[in-house]
Amino acid sequence: EKGGYDHFMLKEIHEQTNAIVDTYRGRLLADKDIIKMGSVDNNITKFLNAKRIVVVACGTSWHAGLVGEYLFEDLARIPVEVEYASEFRYRNPVIHKDDIVIAISQSGETADTLAAIKLAKANGAFVFGICNVVGSSIARETDSGAYTHAGPEIGVASTKAFTTQITVLSLIALKLGYLKGELSKSDYHNYIQELSIIPSKVEKLLKFDAEIEKIAAIYKDAPNCLYLGRGYNFPVALEGALKLKEISYIHAEGYPAAEMKHGPIALIDESMPVVVIATRKGHYEKVVSNIQEIKSRKGKIIAIVTKGDTQVRDIADHVIEIPDTLEPFTPLLTTIPLQLLSYYIAVMRDCNVDQPRNLAKSVTVE
Ligand code: F6R
Repeated sequence: EKGGYDHFMLKEIHEQTNAIVDTYRGRLLADKDIIKMGSVDNNITKFLNAKRIVVVACGTSWHAGLVGEYLFEDLARIPVEVEYASEFRYRNPVIHKDDIVIAISQSGETADTLAAIKLAKANGAFVFGICNVVGSSIARETDSGAYTHAGPEIGVASTKAFTTQITVLSLIALKLGYLKGELSKSDYHNYIQELSIIPSKVEKLLKFDAEIEKIAAIYKDAPNCLYLGRGYNFPVALEGALKLKEISYIHAEGYPAAEMKHGPIALIDESMPVVVIATRKGHYEKVVSNIQEIKSRKGKIIAIVTKGDTQVRDIADHVIEIPDTLEPFTPLLTTIPLQLLSYYIAVMRDCNVDQPRNLAKSVTVE
């Protein structure tokens, strides 16, 4: 049942190549430069006239929503708010009839997300679901939606659900960006071609197991860990920290790299590992100077860099290279080594990786 892997989580991490392909199959028609999504096509006027998109979700799905914020704003120029479903539902939020609410949920059963959907609907918004479990409560309650097609996710820590949610969000953002005239034909073409080869790049990254295992062995006893990223990779930093804390019980926090100097830098000393996502296009020079600030306070740097990077390699304690890609798709790659790092650290600490203490796969109570 675990397909030869020691844990469901490791199996599901490795399934991401195919899960992304399954998610865009029939939707991303790369040879024709077409993105076909029935649920978006059937509601296209609503999508094109939306003044705002509000994303509601919890946990890892909320992190995917944050990546969606960068995607929709950058590619389609639509303003986006990303809300914790639990806060949104009790906040007396301002919801307009021409808002599109996108609810993201792997299980489709999260109580707070379901309640947020009901509230949005009662206020006249159009609610679109991005779920993995077919026929789930959220899939039924939403006005329309798109499934992620990741296949069953058994490990409590969400992995392939995250990357497939980002895949669906990318497809919608690209489609709307093109139809709204925000993306030129050639940019649209380039994004489509690049997205179609992302799975092969994910596949390459999954071969770094041994390299990441070595880094895990060095830091497995750290009491704390910081994760930093900017732009598209700020949500990846949050997700990396969540993965580590939930399965290894190491206290971890994710921050936008530039927030360091507003507080967290006080935590840095020789026993603090800092995972920094420093891909070439994502405000690279600024992240490099953050790395220098950490090094001068003796922090340990594990850097995720673009292949061929030399500048960060010179100052970081460890580097993990990701293949080059277009900036909006970097989260689909940078996430992979962070998932593997958490996995190996948790295994080395003898934690119950697939069923961490105090957690349930679907949170059906608020
Ligand atoms: C993290 C994790 C949780 C879920 C959250 C939302 O690994 O599994 O944070 O992401 O409970 O669950 P869904 O996506 O089912 O609504």
